[in-house]
Amino acid sequence: MKLLVFGSVNIDHVYQLPHFVREGETLASAAYHKNEGGKGTNQAIALAKAGMDVWFAGAIGQDGLFMRDYLKEFGINTEELRVLDVPTGHAVIQVNAKGENSIILYGGANQKITPSMISETLEHFSSSDCLLMQNEISCGKELLEAAAEKGVFIVLNPSPVSEQMLSWPLHLVDLFILNEVEGKDLTGEIEPERILDVLTERYPKARIVLTLGSQGSVYASGRERMTQHAFTVPTVDTTAAGDTFTGYFLSSLLKEKNVGHALFTASVASSITVTRHGAGRSIPGVEEVQAACDSKLG
Ligand code: RIB
Repeated sequence: MKLLVFGSVNIDHVYQLPHFVREGETLASAAYHKNEGGKGTNQAIALAKAGMDVWFAGAIGQDGLFMRDYLKEFGINTEELRVLDVPTGHAVIQVNAKGENSIILYGGANQKITPSMISETLEHFSSSDCLLMQNEISCGKELLEAAAEKGVFIVLNPSPVSEQMLSWPLHLVDLFILNEVEGKDLTGEIEPERILDVLTERYPKARIVLTLGSQGSVYASGRERMTQHAFTVPTVDTTAAGDTFTGYFLSSLLKEKNVGHALFTASVASSITVTRHGAGRSIPGVEEVQAACDSKLG
């Protein structure tokens, strides 16, 4: 089985602030960092750190060549990462005193993905392979349709949910991994149980993982439910916590095929990420996660 992440590459500009900037307000930041980011990139790195062989497809500009080296640093195959004549995508990230974030995206090269790039990439994959995708690149609908046509196992982290995404053929998704904001945007429901009821009724063949921040996470498949509590830790920056969860959940599911264990491992891994600043570089490696899991199991 080959594992493909087809997703975004961003240069993150991160500002440490006492609170998120209010309308009309000018606010000085206590610190500024330029980090490697992008949900596609972060999730590919989480999978690689969890011990998976990962292929990455996406697009950068000449100003983002260091992002290709960054992906390679973690052993990720970048043959399907295109270099285009446009700027690399970037994100402006505010991190407040509680470690919460607020993100503005500039798509850049991420929004220049075309249907022909998708079909060229998918030529190298078959029905025994797995695709992980998010919603920070153009032609997401075409990617979903082309992957389904091939019979690839499709994992969608619908982040961020957009107006257009509501018209995607989401019944083609095999596994959703989403948070409660995305769940609300997809279903119009606020209560986690209602979000899961709507999604499982709408997409009966899909398995769903709903993350709930400090309330943990819930897995749903038809009427089956499985829950995992969150681990309380001193939080400095929640950036890439969801990406860590997605990468570690998927890695564990593909390797051990045990949902309870995958939820536990992903919760432990993301609880480590939030204790550190940054995106992909804050994601722990498999040995650290294993040691933390062992200590929690006693
Ligand atoms: O999930 C965190 C990521 O979201 C950041 O790295 C930023 O680039 C945005 O894509």
